[in-house]
Amino acid sequence: MAIEAASTSAAPSVFDVQAERPRPKDVGILAMDMYFPKRCISEEDLEVYDGVAKGKYTIGLGQSYMAFADDREDINSIALTVVSSLMKRFDIDPRSIGRLDVGTETIIDKSKSVKTVLMDLFKECGNHDIEGLDSKNACYGSTAAVQNATNWIESRSWDGRNAIVFAGDIAVYAEGGARPVGGAGACAILIGPNAPLVFEPIHGTYMANTYDFYKPNLTSEYPTVDGPLSVSTYIQAMDAAYSSFRSKVASGTKALNPSAIPSSTESGKKVDEKSVFSLADVDYPVYHSPYGKQVQKGHARLLFMDYLSAPSKPEFANIDAGFLDIPYPKTLGSKEVEKAFMALSKSDYASRVAPSMRCASRCGNMYTASLYGGLASLLSTVDGETLKGKRISMFAFGSGCASTFWTIRVKGDVSEIAKKMDLLKRLESMEVVSCDEYTKGLQLREENHNAAPYQPQGDIKNIWPGAFYLDNIDSMFRRKYIQA
Ligand code: ACO
Repeated sequence: MAIEAASTSAAPSVFDVQAERPRPKDVGILAMDMYFPKRCISEEDLEVYDGVAKGKYTIGLGQSYMAFADDREDINSIALTVVSSLMKRFDIDPRSIGRLDVGTETIIDKSKSVKTVLMDLFKECGNHDIEGLDSKNACYGSTAAVQNATNWIESRSWDGRNAIVFAGDIAVYAEGGARPVGGAGACAILIGPNAPLVFEPIHGTYMANTYDFYKPNLTSEYPTVDGPLSVSTYIQAMDAAYSSFRSKVASGTKALNPSAIPSSTESGKKVDEKSVFSLADVDYPVYHSPYGKQVQKGHARLLFMDYLSAPSKPEFANIDAGFLDIPYPKTLGSKEVEKAFMALSKSDYASRVAPSMRCASRCGNMYTASLYGGLASLLSTVDGETLKGKRISMFAFGSGCASTFWTIRVKGDVSEIAKKMDLLKRLESMEVVSCDEYTKGLQLREENHNAAPYQPQGDIKNIWPGAFYLDNIDSMFRRKYIQA
């Protein structure tokens, strides 16, 4: 009843004051860290091991290396490692965190969230007032988590503290065509106001009900995949999210009018050349990377979208004008279109996109962490002075499907983040092991998935010093972790 009395009195209640507080400015990334297992394999070795034609994985799929974990690591241990390492590297007081969101598709419990396990890191300081839980949809959960954390800080409920996002996955496929595009890795991101990397407010999103990649079989870690459909879904979602983003940029405040947003079948429709946002408005495009080649194809595809809306630009002078007459759905499977724009974007890819591919080329697909590993790679490859004032675009994609295209503005100095992450040196120091060791690691996971009680068999020497690992699972499926 004290609440009612306060709200009817002349003096504003604490609730009114909170609701009217000035909104924080420049919300974005204050710090970030990456984690990946200690071991990886070479895709060149895997071609020999699998007996496929030379070049199939390395050239055809654009893969170099792939990280993997055996039964000593699971999503909880990885989350504990990277979140604690973020707090240590950046000297973050655990009491300064008011929200913690998780994005992952490496599900080990249908009810208990990874977030609750991470609360162990906040127990000692007594901080249990931390909102946020897990978001799931293939590789997109991380972006949903970033949006949740950002929206909290920009909301009326924000209490002045920062947020952390954890995203990561162990990407494993059954034996067959998809196995070379697995991987493992994770990121932890500190989000707050007055950030050097500021999230810009316009998002172009495309979501639909597709059965391209999903995990309906809870007795297995492996996904059910329709490979060709997953590839075309990635491209279709990219077209639609990019179109929606450009349409909102072009129409400004009118973007709130639903009719201003194109349907996916209108994705390539011709619009006013001068008012259209294009890849030229971005300094560094970063893409979700299922494997290297898909990112090259995705970047080429966005250039094709730019071409459809502004074909008379000088950079398209040598493009076959006949492409303009291909009905949009047919462009999705057109090898001619793909080839022409892959060739046109080749040097642009090398200068603007390749810097974001360092994590992906060492760790493979990290699912939810892949896009943010791209951002971390960019910060580690291009110096802070060069990055200052630049715009980075982000394309998030998760099969099933969910996707968003949005941008980040580099407003401050990011060199400290790069220095503390020390990413390139750490990627370099991963151990490249035999494909036999990799297969045995995957076998251990496969044979013991969901086992309880269970004593993991993987050798502790394969865990980075200081990283968390799974010590055991008891008969009640309770998992115990210790630090190496
Ligand atoms: N040298 C050079 N290139 C070669 C060679 C060779 N010896 N052999 C084949 N290639 C090329 C092919 O021509 C093809 O090129 P293209 O894609 O430009 O046409 C490419 O290598 C791939 O060959 P495919 O035979 O098509 O590959 P495969 O049947 O192994 O399937 C796929 C590839 C579908 C990506 C499979 O790995 C898969 O299912 N992956 C998992 C799903 C996935 O990652 N989807 C992407 C988005 S969803 C997500 O993020 C999980």
